[in-house]
Amino acid sequence: MMFAILREVNLALIMKLIIVTLNQSQQSMANNQRTEFSANKKLTEGLQYLLNGYDSRIRPNYTGSPVEVQVDISVASFGNIKEVDMEFGLDMFFRQHWQDTRLSHNLTSKMTLTMGTKHPADFFWVPDTIFVDATKSYMHNVLTTNHKLDISANGEVDWGTRATLVARCHMNFRTFPMDEQKCSLNIVSYAYPTQHLIFAWKSIPGVVVLDKEMAQFYMKEMTTAVQRVEYVAGEYSLLQATFTFKRRMGFYLIQIYIPCIAIVFVAWMSLFVDSKATPARVGLCVTTLLTIATIWGAVNSTMPRVSYVKAIDIYLMTSFFFVLCTLLQYIGLIHKGRAKRGISRLKTPFLKKEAQGSSTCNLTSQYSSYRGGLYSLEEGQIEHPCDELNQEHKEIDSNDVEVVARIAFVVAFLSFNFFYWIALVYFV
Ligand SMILES: *[C@@H]1O[C@H](CO)[C@@H](O)[C@H](O)[C@H]1NC(C)=O
Ligand SMILES: *[C@@H]1O[C@H](CO)[C@@H](O)[C@H](O)[C@H]1NC(C)=O
Repeated sequence: MMFAILREVNLALIMKLIIVTLNQSQQSMANNQRTEFSANKKLTEGLQYLLNGYDSRIRPNYTGSPVEVQVDISVASFGNIKEVDMEFGLDMFFRQHWQDTRLSHNLTSKMTLTMGTKHPADFFWVPDTIFVDATKSYMHNVLTTNHKLDISANGEVDWGTRATLVARCHMNFRTFPMDEQKCSLNIVSYAYPTQHLIFAWKSIPGVVVLDKEMAQFYMKEMTTAVQRVEYVAGEYSLLQATFTFKRRMGFYLIQIYIPCIAIVFVAWMSLFVDSKATPARVGLCVTTLLTIATIWGAVNSTMPRVSYVKAIDIYLMTSFFFVLCTLLQYIGLIHKGRAKRGISRLKTPFLKKEAQGSSTCNLTSQYSSYRGGLYSLEEGQIEHPCDELNQEHKEIDSNDVEVVARIAFVVAFLSFNFFYWIALVYFV
């Protein structure tokens, strides 16, 4: 009985306590809301006060000294460098900083604003910056427009935005694929010459590159400069950031050079094919010739049609020449009638020496000693008449030509490679 009463009293007490605390928290929430609301209202009123009578078309301090716009850029990543179009891409966070005393306010901290679906230029004066070499550019607006505006109490404005550009870049491919490309980004004001607006980098160097890697290139170097340029409309302030991109050779080594070496090797192997096997030999030569031509075509299909010779062209051209030489050598051989059908298959320098060593035509014993050994001879071939043996001497001469060709080919190709790579690695 007693316990039951006590429990009820306890319960009632707890309920009361809960209700009181709930009430209190509700009250404090309402108070918070009210103070936040009034603060917001104050801010909105403050902004309206600032923008009341503000003309966003007129630059700050119009009658006074030129407005100085300080720029800093963080390059998030580089887009693909397109050789055919001579363009490079850039995805960046672009910030500009200037002072507009018309926007100075009474808040203790700086005012940070976003723009929703609008542009800052709808409300404030902003520099009319342009990227001189850009062919395509866009601002990002997913999910809302990417703008951030900080306004300090003394009217200093910091406007950050995100932009993606594709810009022109004059490229030189003489040392392709070991080339370096210098591409620059030039920033000027569209309307204001230097008596109205001057640009400066906010910090040194002013550009920070967050990701230097690309599929085929990496950024090797970056320099910035401030210049004055003379246009028809007057003297303009110009900011310049120059990026040096170095090409990675790996792709061309794997896709072009190594297959090319393999093809030249196959062409060289054709010199070992029996000179009587005309279809095999011509087929091999012509196939390798066509393959090199195909590779060459594939390389140049991704390049602009420049009218000078690129380093890779020299390599492919020389390889083509080497392969062509195997074909010409064979045609020369046929032409001289040294690869006549029906001539003995015996053709080693070793045998030639043996043949020369004997003054008589009676070589039957020497031939038969090879029977079942290195050279399997047919019965009919053992008893050669003298005139047939003389033909063999001729055949042996043509083999000499082949041996010389094989060695000359290899030596010439290796030394070409040696000089080519030395030149490419050390003098480029
Ligand atoms: C505005 O111009 C005047 C006169 O050239 C100069 O003294 C003043 O510092 C300028 N104000 C700002 C905010 O740049
Ligand atoms: C700043 O505050 C003063 C009073 O403290 C007021 O008179 C003035 O209008 C305020 N200025 C702005 C820009 O809000």
